[in-house]
Amino acid sequence: MLEEANLTVGAVAKRCGVKVSTLHFYEQKGLIRSWRNAGNQRRYKRDVLRRISVIKAAQRLGVSLEEIATAFANLPDNRTPDKADWAKLSQAWRADLDARIAALTQLRDSLTGCIGCGCLSLARCPLYNPDDKFGEIGVGAVKLLG
Ligand code: FES
Repeated sequence: MLEEANLTVGAVAKRCGVKVSTLHFYEQKGLIRSWRNAGNQRRYKRDVLRRISVIKAAQRLGVSLEEIATAFANLPDNRTPDKADWAKLSQAWRADLDARIAALTQLRDSLTGCIGCGCLSLARCPLYNPDDKFGEIGVGAVKLLG
């Protein structure tokens, strides 16, 4: 259907639940592509809907737009990710997600002693001074030394 192959920016925004400005931003970042019709209006091919779905899913995993753009650029002919591509990309991003979860879990566990404390002590607070890193530098106002 011709209209399906020539989606307006408003139609894409509505179908994907994103703002028009978001689509322009994605285009600036090289994540999606449009072409101009005779009236110099942006038009999108139907596959842009899948590209935006992949972008939104990846963002929910905490993947940055720069990482997504790099992943897209590495696909043959800069094609829109198909099912197999998504499986491969999401598997790679899962390792990053696991690492972030582990780091946040460690941070949460170190917070346990701080709940209800409020001391923010350089000597014993694991949030304010993890692993006493300032103690390795020296004593006194070491944070002010730059
Ligand atoms: S606020 Fe007291 S130990 Fe972190």
